[in-house]
Order: sequence, then C-alpha cells, then structure tokens
Amino acid sequence: MKSTIGFAMCGSFCTLSKALEQMKSLREQYEILPVFSQNVYETDTRFGKAEDLRKEVFSLSGKKPLHTIVEAEPIGPKGLVEVMAVCPCTGNTLSKIANGITDTSVTMAVKSSLRIGIPVVLCLATNDAMGASGPNLMKLFNTKNVYLVPLCQDDPQKKPFSLVSDFSLLGEAVEAAKEHRQLQPFYR
Ligand SMILES: Cc1cc2nc3c(=O)[nH]c(=O)nc-3n(C[C@H](O)[C@H](O)[C@H](O)COP(=O)(O)O)c2cc1C
Repeated sequence: MKSTIGFAMCGSFCTLSKALEQMKSLREQYEILPVFSQNVYETDTRFGKAEDLRKEVFSLSGKKPLHTIVEAEPIGPKGLVEVMAVCPCTGNTLSKIANGITDTSVTMAVKSSLRIGIPVVLCLATNDAMGASGPNLMKLFNTKNVYLVPLCQDDPQKKPFSLVSDFSLLGEAVEAAKEHRQLQPFYR
C-alpha cells in the first residue's frame, strides 16, 4: 500500500503549475493529501482561477484540499502523512514557520507534522529570500526536521534578492528528508 504525502500549496501563483507537475510525479509513489492556504483556495490571479486549481488537484489526488486550520490540525495527531511537503512555499509562510506562527491551514499542517517528528520539506519561491525572508530561511536550515529543496537565484539581474527551489528536485528532497538528510542546499 502507498504511504501518504501531505502536499501543501501557498500563494506563489506563478509557480503553481510547476508544483502540479511535481504532484503528478509524486502520485506514482504516494497518496496525496492536498492542503491549500486560504489565499490559494480563494484567489483568482492572472496565473489562473482558484476554482480550476481546486478541480485539478481533486482530479489528481481524489481529495478536496484541506484549507482551514481546523481541517489541517489532525494531520500529526492522527499520523495522516509520512512527509509534509510545502510546494510552493512563499516567503510569507516560510517566515511564519521559522517564527512559530500558526495562523493558516499550511502553517497548521507544518506545526501538526513537526509535533510528532514528521519531516517537512519546503520548496521555496520568493523574491525576498535574500531580503526580509533571509534570516528566516537561514533559521530553518538549523531547524530540526525541516528541509529545503535546493535553491538558486532565478534572475540575479532583475530580481537580485530572489531564490527559487528547483521544483524538479522535490522528489529527491523528500526521499532524503525521510532519512533526515538535507540535499546540498545551494547549487550553481
Ligand atoms: C500574482 C501573485 C504572485 C505572487 N507570487 C509570490 C511568490 O512567488 N512568492 C511569494 O513569496 N509570494 C508571492 N505572492 C504573495 C503571496 O501570495 C502573499 O504573501 C500571501 O499572503 C501568501 O499567503 P500564503 O503563504 O498563506 O499562501 C504573490 C502574490 C500574487 C497576487
């Protein structure tokens, strides 16, 4: 029987399609438990409509995405997942996790996982990774059971403070996290 991976999605709207590709590929090995931040659940942007995303994730996972703190809370206590991935992870959610703030469905899913030692894998995409979110990113490298999908500068000229994880490495980062290993975090 397949084990289950939590797949939490935050409001990096331009990377949601890359995240869906990873959900598709993880599906071969895992059952998917989808979690949406409230922003992802209800916001239409130039990158797509919330309702379309909800439908697509339902068709991929067979489950309606959890999107409230109440729905996400049992993940740890009931042992619902083997690993919790946050893909994409915004600067906003990263910074909340680093500082113990639990006021969204995704931060609740992470907290609920960490409370029983379930590894958490963050696939980051944020323009301020080397700005306001920088100290929080570094803090998470030193946080037990939290792992980052390897990152690089996506556009050093136009977005000098931006870092984006290589989404194609999510699966590898998940397997490493299960062994409590961080992949080499920065690559050229
Ligand atoms: C079109 C659009 C694209 C965005 N892209 C990003 C992004 O790539 N990375 C990021 O950290 N925030 C991005 N944001 C900002 C987040 O959506 C915002 O910080 C939000 O509060 C995140 O909430 P969440 O982390 O709970 O999903 C974007 C916002 C919009 C409207």
